Amino acid sequence: MTESSAPGKVYLFGEHAVVYGEPAVPCAIERRATVTVEERDDDRLRVHAQDLSLDGFTVEYSGETGATPDVDVSTPLVEEGIGYVDAAVSEAREAADAPNAGFDITIESEIPLGAGLGSSAAVTVAGIDAATRELGVDLSDEEIAERAYRAELAVQDGQASRADTFCSATGGAVRVEGDDCRSIDAPDLPIVVGFDGGAGDTGKLVAGVRALREEYDFAADTVESIGDVVRRGEDALADGDLAELGRLMNFNHGLLEALGVSSRSLDGMVWAARDAGALGAKLTGAGGGGCIVALDPTDETTTALRFTPGCEDAFRAELDTDGVRAEDA
Ligand code: MEV
Repeated sequence: MTESSAPGKVYLFGEHAVVYGEPAVPCAIERRATVTVEERDDDRLRVHAQDLSLDGFTVEYSGETGATPDVDVSTPLVEEGIGYVDAAVSEAREAADAPNAGFDITIESEIPLGAGLGSSAAVTVAGIDAATRELGVDLSDEEIAERAYRAELAVQDGQASRADTFCSATGGAVRVEGDDCRSIDAPDLPIVVGFDGGAGDTGKLVAGVRALREEYDFAADTVESIGDVVRRGEDALADGDLAELGRLMNFNHGLLEALGVSSRSLDGMVWAARDAGALGAKLTGAGGGGCIVALDPTDETTTALRFTPGCEDAFRAELDTDGVRAEDA
């Protein structure tokens, strides 16, 4: 039996625009997904998932490519979750040259599904690491990031950036621009997360931005402006200038709002954080619902968010410098 964990992340800057080659800066946070894998005697997969902010589920299905899971839960999030596990298993089988390997897989996650904190990337990264190690193959963090990216591409209809998967594989703060992914230094960041209890559909939200960009030049300009904000943000990060980081996060949120990926509850939490004195606040991830990220060294934002209608949970999140790692099974 083999167990691996990988962190979730928040985007300080650059989600959505990163899909079109603009830079983005995600930061891993100390909320992890843990995947336990045990090889089976046959080629089937049995997936048991719990703590995913929805009822746990168990499915068992054939490991043949394209086989439909025999599952009577129709929640799109569950189906999407299974898609990521499937894609991770395909990558692990290929990496270990074991096309018929079957597994019992257990997923435990502290990261709400589809809420902008990189749950799918964390499960995919940890799943590939655990499954390949179970088959006796050790991949580097970079190889895991590459394979996890391919898995996300497969599930998200070819629309994904390397940001989520690279950040989860390596940990810390990273800068992603196209295929160029690197770790960057970050000061201590007083990160606060607000969660509305919901989730967005990444594929649909990405497609929505694509459509706007194709229809309106000013939407394409908005995407480029996010890139400009990110570049300024990188300077602020290097200078440890938290006040400037906050201002730029506010700006980034406004541009994402213009691109139609915010929501009433996300905007409500952003404004509650700002009113509470946060240095800045923005949605994180694909949007549509899910989480916001704010910077506040005091407890004011966390407290205010907990009393904000539409906010289900608010918590402080430390930067996680550990990426994917082996755990004691
Ligand atoms: C989703 O977490 C982030 C997006 O930029 C999509 C991607 O980068 O693949 C919206």
